[in-house]
Amino acid sequence: MSKAKSQFVCRLCGGLSPKWQGQCPQCGEWNSLEEQVAQVAVTTGRFQSLAADGAIKNLSDVEAEELPRTPTNLAELDRVLGGGLVPGGVVLIGGDPGIGKSTLLLQALAKLSESLAVLYVSGEESAQQIALRARRLGVPAAKVRLYPEISLEKILHALEREAPKVVVIDSIQTIYTEALTSAPGSVAQVRECSAQLTRFAKRHGTSILLVGHVTKEGALAGPRVLEHIVDAVLYFEGDTHSSFRLIRAIKNRFGAVNELGVFAMTDKGLREVANPSALFLSQHDEPVPGSCVMVTQEGSRPMLVEVQALVDDAHAAQVKRLAVGVEQNRLALLLAVLHRHAGIAAFDQDVFINAVGGVRIVEPAADLAMLIAIVSSLKNKALPNKMVVFGEVGLAGEVRPVQRGQERLKEAAKLGFTHAIVPKANRPRQVIEGMTVTAVDRLDQAVDAAF
Ligand code: TYD
Ligand code: MG
Repeated sequence: MSKAKSQFVCRLCGGLSPKWQGQCPQCGEWNSLEEQVAQVAVTTGRFQSLAADGAIKNLSDVEAEELPRTPTNLAELDRVLGGGLVPGGVVLIGGDPGIGKSTLLLQALAKLSESLAVLYVSGEESAQQIALRARRLGVPAAKVRLYPEISLEKILHALEREAPKVVVIDSIQTIYTEALTSAPGSVAQVRECSAQLTRFAKRHGTSILLVGHVTKEGALAGPRVLEHIVDAVLYFEGDTHSSFRLIRAIKNRFGAVNELGVFAMTDKGLREVANPSALFLSQHDEPVPGSCVMVTQEGSRPMLVEVQALVDDAHAAQVKRLAVGVEQNRLALLLAVLHRHAGIAAFDQDVFINAVGGVRIVEPAADLAMLIAIVSSLKNKALPNKMVVFGEVGLAGEVRPVQRGQERLKEAAKLGFTHAIVPKANRPRQVIEGMTVTAVDRLDQAVDAAF
């Protein structure tokens, strides 16, 4: 058997040397090199399992304690996380450039630093830039430890040394490991670095927040596999031209998904919006054609969102279909249902549809509101004032019930809406004060009720 090869690692910077030297060639520190077995170090490091304990047990024998939570004290972020950070939990935060990822995490770390040891690792911005931002945000930055570094090995050493409870890595695409020759940001690097950081988090009970970039197509850059490695994936959404920012959990091993946190970007950073239900309505003095208000249920909170449609004669051979904030394919499908089951044709019309305020509606409860907005624009006829509409529309023209219809109706009534068109099964069992509800089970009935 061949002798295992040894190498020398600097205790401080993690730099490697093939032979012993008095001074580390990377950081210049004296007497800091320690011998390590090269192959073992690499293989055990790379292929360990992510969970610590490998013994086989009965599920009932495993102690299932409630995980302690560390609230970030940003209530909207805690809401999406399911109550706060979990020790050993790794959270990936994705979003477009400039949407506010670094700002939010700096605000969160500054709050956490008052009671915990925290470390901000930045591979994108210099220490001065971050200090400047902290000053502008007016956050208590005295106890936030900062490490501008991109080498994974050095970062892991620093984590061992500093033993922080919460770590931000901004961003995972800038970090690289010396074990691989590919460039930072490549699939192999992103995957390997995240796996090693996750392993560290699980072993030491550290919470790690990874910032991830989003590609032009809207997916998190780097491998999708990243989403499998981490415990929670949060997406930052919102129109960079409007000041509202939404954070959505698309995966959460410690809480519910599709919970939505709402922030507003101000000159003092991100401010929480505790009651966002009327945020996504535009303020019309008079009802206008093409506008329909729906109630969407995002996680535990109902929100009113205005859906706007513009339907206009097409002048090109190819008609245009454009959807912002709702799914484009869903639009094409709904137009077909509208033609077939309500006898309203739009095949020679351009159809544009938009959810106001940069919000993205993922649930099918928006179907009926989209169709009513389209019909309203096509007929150039406004809906009655103070009306809300929700319901899923099926291919057979049926209007299907949605979850938590009662809560949606109550929220609309609270905001002064007086009429609602809803699926039959969502008809309220008790009268909701000030709200007249029309329950329908077919699309054509809904169109008749609205106009
Ligand atoms: P940033 O957190 O750097 O975005 P990301 O890390 O997601 O790329 O956000 C930068 C944007 O936020 C920038 O366009 C300016 C804006 N901003 C404010 O409006 N107010 C503020 O207080 C701060 C710090 C940033
Ligand atoms: Mg940033």
